Amino acid sequence: MEERIVSGEQLSDDGVIDNTIRPEILDEYIGQSEVKENIRVFIEASKIRNEVLDHVLLYGPPGLGKTTLAYIIARELGVNIKTASGPSIEKSGDLAAILSTIEQGDVLFIDEIHRMPRFIEEILYPAMEDFTLDIIIGGDGNSRNIKIDLPPFTLVGATTRAGDLSAPLRDRFGIISKLKFYTVEELTEIIKRTSRVLDMPIENDAAKELASRSRGTPRIANRLFKRVRDFALVDGKESIDLEVMNKALDRLKVDKSGLDETDHQLLKAIIERFNGGPVGIEALASSIGEEVSTIEDVIEPYLLQEGYLKRTSRGRMVTEKAYKQLNINYQSGLFNLNLDE
Ligand SMILES: Nc1ncnc2c1ncn2[C@@H]1O[C@H](COP(=O)(O)OP(=O)(O)O)[C@@H](O)[C@H]1O
Ligand SMILES: [Mg+2]
Repeated sequence: MEERIVSGEQLSDDGVIDNTIRPEILDEYIGQSEVKENIRVFIEASKIRNEVLDHVLLYGPPGLGKTTLAYIIARELGVNIKTASGPSIEKSGDLAAILSTIEQGDVLFIDEIHRMPRFIEEILYPAMEDFTLDIIIGGDGNSRNIKIDLPPFTLVGATTRAGDLSAPLRDRFGIISKLKFYTVEELTEIIKRTSRVLDMPIENDAAKELASRSRGTPRIANRLFKRVRDFALVDGKESIDLEVMNKALDRLKVDKSGLDETDHQLLKAIIERFNGGPVGIEALASSIGEEVSTIEDVIEPYLLQEGYLKRTSRGRMVTEKAYKQLNINYQSGLFNLNLDE
């Protein structure tokens, strides 16, 4: 699939911009006030008690600041951060290698922790609970168990799907925080910060326009900012104004509400092929040629949150708002729906 400019997931050329504008301390982390204030208290308390911070699970859609927060936690604790991702830990030796580099109080950040193999998870349990590593080495009648003491550390796990985590793993996190989509006001603030860091001024109304077209997601706001900046440069502008903002976003096919062609395609498919729904997720996925997990993790969370789409026990349904967005007559949709039932 071609990369979607409005995807919350990290795309191939996001790395550099993500890293240069990533806030480094809690005070620079905009929004998510509840999560932020709780974490601030837990960090403070762990310092006072002189104990390591409880294990932290961060979950929520891509691009909302999980990785950023993991780094901030380490920074605020004044410790090192070691990083790994669930799918990259394939053998017990991989996990042992990472754990062996950990020093007292360090943060071990495991991204996409729901994609860790189950047997690795089981090695992680005693590591999280008692800071011991129990592994079997050797094989073929020649294997033995070794038990290694680890220095106390804090595991920070990130996942887009808390539901995919096994209960025993979830239960071992003392702090579980859900990141939410950002408000237009918060995103406006993030965009202004990005403008300062990248040294490209943006006018207030343009920042607000970009915020309302960024799907509540900082990564998308920053990515679009970078693209719009190119349009402004080519137009010889010294700052980003509303005119160039609208021109750029229209060219990039991001509509007034931040939806793109993939969103339109999904909503349209439900309306035209399934009479507005309800339609099961598998049928919908095959109808638009996407993976079920892509719909669930990337496309639909924002559509659900903004009320274009509803999840019912019988499947997905579009709402009146979706008809309006696509300029399709709602009544004709309703009529079909009634016939169906
Ligand atoms: N609360 C925030 N305040 C400011 N910028 C943020 C915030 N959260 C995320 N960002 C920006 O969005 C980008 C993506 O965040 P990231 O932590 O990589 O998301 P995730 O790990 O959840 O996919 C970061 O580079 C950062 O610049
Ligand atoms: Mg991340």
